[in-house]
Amino acid sequence: MLNHKEILDQRRKYIGPSLSISYDVPLHIVRGEAQYLFDVKGNRYLDCVNNIQHVGHCHPKIVEAAQSQYKKLNTNTRYLDEAIVNYARNLTQTLPDGLDVCFFTNSGSEANDLAMRIARNYEQSKETIVLDGAYHGNLSSLIEISPYKHNGPGGSGTPDHVQVIPMPDPFRGQYRGERCAEQYAKEVQETIDRIQGRNRNSFAFISEALMGCGGQLILPEGFLQKAFELVKKAGGLCIADEVQIGFGRMGSHFWGFDSESVVPDIVTMGKSMGNGHPLSAVVTTKEIADAFDNGMEYFNSFGGNPVSCAVGQAVLNVIRDEGLQAHAEHVGNYLLQKLQSLQNDHDIIGDVRGRGLFIGIELVRDYELTPAVNEAHTIVNSMKEKGVLLSTDGPDHNVIKIKPPMIFSKDNAHELISKIDEIIAEL
Ligand SMILES: Cc1ncc(COP(=O)(O)O)c(C=O)c1O
Repeated sequence: MLNHKEILDQRRKYIGPSLSISYDVPLHIVRGEAQYLFDVKGNRYLDCVNNIQHVGHCHPKIVEAAQSQYKKLNTNTRYLDEAIVNYARNLTQTLPDGLDVCFFTNSGSEANDLAMRIARNYEQSKETIVLDGAYHGNLSSLIEISPYKHNGPGGSGTPDHVQVIPMPDPFRGQYRGERCAEQYAKEVQETIDRIQGRNRNSFAFISEALMGCGGQLILPEGFLQKAFELVKKAGGLCIADEVQIGFGRMGSHFWGFDSESVVPDIVTMGKSMGNGHPLSAVVTTKEIADAFDNGMEYFNSFGGNPVSCAVGQAVLNVIRDEGLQAHAEHVGNYLLQKLQSLQNDHDIIGDVRGRGLFIGIELVRDYELTPAVNEAHTIVNSMKEKGVLLSTDGPDHNVIKIKPPMIFSKDNAHELISKIDEIIAEL
């Protein structure tokens, strides 16, 4: 068995160096169970950040669903198969009426890339409106619509066909205060006017309902509703990227866009959908899907295969059978409340926000709201030493992300709060 140093050396030699490793002293994790990970020495870590393992690491019902389907059949989707139609029907039943045609893919990136193709085909235009700070995936087409990447280190800026709206951040953004939703929405209207002024009438608007890489950001109340209204009025298509936030994580709602009272034309999902198995999807209306049936076949070697569908169905069943959406609401509200009271004790906590089990703690140094980047880094590393796994995000990497497996309990919340309280006090 390779030791810590040998794995690091081999990784440096054989794995592309642009992939980072979490924590100053990397972890060698060998086992996962429920909301816990175990390292090679048997130390237990509370996983507060892996929203992919939605119903828990190695959930027995998910493992069993994958194993038993693997033993029977795994092939592509050009044969008649009950699994794909049953799963597609059950998945669309979680969505508003009309969103009932599925395309299965294998990653959030693939889903977003396909969503862009579908939207661009329908609109006959490449013009795309995005939010600043957004991340939509690692494919070339998605780096183009992800200011988080193309305006970050190594990026080559925003391409001509992409229009960026200032990040609707009511805490540290360009507009703050009571009227900021309106001000950000005005930016959307001005952008639409600019696109239409260039004689390119059509476009798509893609957004998360709560921003993940943007820093666990709740958009100002009413912004998304207004933005959708303006886009639809101008003939544009609205795409909701639910890759981070879907499948009950919001607690109050199964989908993030629902919690903002909007209905998209196209929804993309991934991550939690397969609880770690590579499974993602685009769901849209019959009209938009039919327009995409333009003679060029859409085929995907792996997307929607019987094993993926068995896993996806098992995830939906576990969410329902274990009442995980209601649990996320209950535990999430409790954790949010406790973290908000911690804010009174520590000036460095500038903002605590979230919905369900999708929470962010934004750290700032002073009244000018200077991002406390080093402090966020120190807290995350010290928490790991105490057995709690967290990470940072946001444009300045000063937001601590909390998005644990949905079985995260009130006891886990206590452990997280008491340890973070101790560490911040020692800063
Ligand atoms: C909002 C959002 N969309 C899309 C993606 C891309 O998903 P994947 O990494 O599965 O390709 C991510 C990944 O973090 C994401 O956060």
